[in-house]
Amino acid sequence: MAKTNNSSMTTYVHLLLLLISSCPILANASDTILQGQLIRVSDTIVSSGNVFELGFFSAGGSNSTMSYYVGLWFKKISEQTVVWVANRDYPLTDSSAVLTIGVDGNLVIVEGRISYMITNISSTGGGNTSATLLDSGNLVLTDGRSGELLWQSFDYPTHTFLPGMKLGYDRRNGKTWSLLSWKSRDDPGPGVFSLELDPRGTSQFFIMKGSQKYWASGTWNGQIFAMMPEMGMYNDAYKLTYISNQNESYFTSFSDPSTVDRCVFDISGQLQYLSWLESTHEWILFWSQPRQECEVYAYCGAFSSCNQNAVPFCSCLRGFQPLSDRNWNAGDKSGGCSRRVPLQCGKDSQVSGQKDRFLRISKVRLPVNPIVLQVSPGVCESACSSNCSCSAYAYGDDGCSIWIEDLLNMQQLKPNDPNGRDLYLKLASSEFQDSGSKRWKWIIPAIAVSLTLLTTAFFFYMWRRKLQKKGEDLLLFDPATSIGAATYKRSEDSKSRRTGRNKEVDLPLFSIASVSAATDNFSDANKLGEGGFGPVYKGKILKGHEVAVKRLSRKSGQGLEELQNEAMLIAKLQHKNLVRLLGCCIERDEKILIYEYMHNKSLDFFLFDPIKHGMLNWELRVNIIEGIAQGLLYLHQYSRLRIIHRDLKASNILLDKDMNPKISDFGMARIFGENGSQATKRIVGTYGYMSPEYALRGLFSIKSDVFSFGVLLLEILSGKKNTGFYNSDSLTLLGYAWDLWRGGRGQELKDPIIEDVSCTNMLLRYINIALLCVQESAADRPTMSNVVSMLSNELVFLPSPKQPAFSTSGSVLDQYPSMSPAIYSLNDATVSILEAR
Ligand SMILES: *[C@@H]1O[C@H](CO)[C@@H](O)[C@H](O)[C@H]1NC(C)=O
Ligand SMILES: *[C@@H]1O[C@H](CO)[C@@H](O)[C@H](O)[C@H]1NC(C)=O
Ligand SMILES: *[C@@H]1O[C@H](CO)[C@@H](O)[C@H](O)[C@H]1NC(C)=O
Ligand SMILES: *[C@@H]1O[C@H](CO)[C@@H](O)[C@H](O)[C@H]1NC(C)=O
Ligand SMILES: *[C@@H]1O[C@H](CO)[C@@H](O)[C@H](O)[C@H]1NC(C)=O
Repeated sequence: MAKTNNSSMTTYVHLLLLLISSCPILANASDTILQGQLIRVSDTIVSSGNVFELGFFSAGGSNSTMSYYVGLWFKKISEQTVVWVANRDYPLTDSSAVLTIGVDGNLVIVEGRISYMITNISSTGGGNTSATLLDSGNLVLTDGRSGELLWQSFDYPTHTFLPGMKLGYDRRNGKTWSLLSWKSRDDPGPGVFSLELDPRGTSQFFIMKGSQKYWASGTWNGQIFAMMPEMGMYNDAYKLTYISNQNESYFTSFSDPSTVDRCVFDISGQLQYLSWLESTHEWILFWSQPRQECEVYAYCGAFSSCNQNAVPFCSCLRGFQPLSDRNWNAGDKSGGCSRRVPLQCGKDSQVSGQKDRFLRISKVRLPVNPIVLQVSPGVCESACSSNCSCSAYAYGDDGCSIWIEDLLNMQQLKPNDPNGRDLYLKLASSEFQDSGSKRWKWIIPAIAVSLTLLTTAFFFYMWRRKLQKKGEDLLLFDPATSIGAATYKRSEDSKSRRTGRNKEVDLPLFSIASVSAATDNFSDANKLGEGGFGPVYKGKILKGHEVAVKRLSRKSGQGLEELQNEAMLIAKLQHKNLVRLLGCCIERDEKILIYEYMHNKSLDFFLFDPIKHGMLNWELRVNIIEGIAQGLLYLHQYSRLRIIHRDLKASNILLDKDMNPKISDFGMARIFGENGSQATKRIVGTYGYMSPEYALRGLFSIKSDVFSFGVLLLEILSGKKNTGFYNSDSLTLLGYAWDLWRGGRGQELKDPIIEDVSCTNMLLRYINIALLCVQESAADRPTMSNVVSMLSNELVFLPSPKQPAFSTSGSVLDQYPSMSPAIYSLNDATVSILEAR
């Protein structure tokens, strides 16, 4: 680490304190520490513009292990977010520690008789050195007489890259500016990961674990790093510049001072770019690298498996438990798991127990660092069982692999993943649930206990059932008659409101047993896909009717009653271009929504398929465009709720038997308790469809849906995916459409498969409308009712569009479907951000 060169612990003479006490002490908070002034644990200094605050902070959780550090954090943010630490390798235990500038002009922390030197500059004499905290977050030490800059904290970055800092190296003195991760979330001590500029002189970053390189950013092309194209989308927010001359090579950044952004190197070795969203008081993640947690070296620690499709990603292997429950539950999985029952191996087999056994774990990506033995399959197992350090083995085309000690980076893959392998994990025999000979004497008490428990459980269940309204049977549900029933109920509804009678439940509530039966126990065979909120299954019900069953991932933010209320409100939204919610099932952990089934899957399934997109002729496309516009208009304007969809995209447009479009997944923000205080998950949207104000600042309005609609419109007209678009001149579909439009060549955007030439005027009109929708400024974009009238009426005047957002920066995103740690959908990356840690 760079800073340690310059700072270390020294025992000081008490003279320092004597001198200090004779100096005047300024009381009110300022941005400067004068020589001799004492900053105590309870004091802070604040930069002049109220941006950053410097002082002591505590870390370490429990009181007994509490340590103090001198650090810097954002002043205005409710959640203390430390961006720089002065003494990360020297935790303070004494709350009487003080920060001051000593006689020799160095910034020091004095704890009892020990002084920790933050700076190590040679004395300039004069006793008039001061340290000032700037609004950039830079703490600068200056000579009061000459005004000379003696030292600055920006030269000693810790784990956060702030605008104005440098990352790179100085060729003149061999100094490097690099980031070093924290040890754990509550220990700012130097961790194992570092982020540094390639010392060989290329413009790429490496993430190192110790001395081992395990990730590279790819070289910088002036706008993006080769391996992280999504950065290009956010260039406006965090402008990076690369400077390389005979003296130095480094990256530095500038950012909009009106926003609070940070680029932090997480304990997991992941570089994350976050922006503070004041309205919800949380950090919003824009991108992170390496993208997939499971690819980060030892992300889950030893003896755990990482599953990119599960929340949380890490779980201990069978027979293992988290080494530290506290860290593990706090989201720091790097400690890994440890064995519950020690292995028999190596012990005298006479003494106790049986031989260790192997547990087969299927469909995994094998752990890293195997030792490959050239032996036959039969010998492979014995090679591992005979060596007590061997934890697991696997056998495949590449021979016999064994693992010594820790298993790292094992990944649980999906059942249908062709790369899945079988791993045989060594466990103590007691971990296998077989009946040992000694067990029989436990049987009688065990039966007695279970009987008591069962009886209690039964009565409890009966009692619960009495309390709980029993769910209807989904299998007996008839969607055809329910349409009539709903209408009937609604008319009755108005009557009951007039008569003041209590409203009846409009929305059927099904029992989990019947939902499970309809989907064949949520079998993979019935799985239709994985949406942004959980898997969707096909359910078979009465008379061969089909329904779509959306099983919400369990962590939706709301309580049962609120969820049911929201679902009921959503169910009342009825429009021919919206997928109809037929009912729901809310029981214990399960939150399931039941929708009408759409036979033709979703729009992206046709639009972006090299063969199937031929089926979408011009008339069909016009019908789809108009349908989506109508559905969206209804959500925005005519429904009682004024729903903002927030995640409008081709995969959320479902197609019925006659290829009529129906918008799905609307109202999910409400279902997930978005407006509630206990929201645990924020649904952000999908890269490529997000408007700039939403993507960058989290601001959403009906105009962000209009933006998404514009993108969708261009996709439907061109048959090209915005996120997968690559063209050497204009890097996004929006930029490409804009260039063609400006050059008077709009018709070239048309999907070549559409042969109809009579549509050109209409096509140009649609492109014009689309470009109006994707304009940078939300205020410039039309509302959906404007859009609908522009689409349907050729006499409506169309203004000239301004340059669209994201038209100049790169987004080669389709090769990188997952950019954030919390990706739920597999091919159309809806990004959900988990609760702030
Ligand atoms: C301060 O720097 C000098 C060289 O400039 C070095 O000799 C000395 O050991 C350093 N002191 C500490 C406490 O690091
Ligand atoms: C830790 O100390 C604070 C006061 O400093 C006290 O309120 C809190 O209860 C203590 N916690 C534990 C676990 O002792
Ligand atoms: C120290 O510097 C301040 C300005 O930074 C100046 O006003 C003051 O006179 C100086 N004191 C001495 C002793 O030089
Ligand atoms: C490099 O450093 C030298 C002296 O340290 C300076 O004179 C020169 O201008 C620097 N060059 C650049 C390009 O900054
Ligand atoms: C186990 O195998 C490893 C690697 O082959 C070897 O280094 C180690 O010495 C072996 N240990 C024993 C006890 O045989």
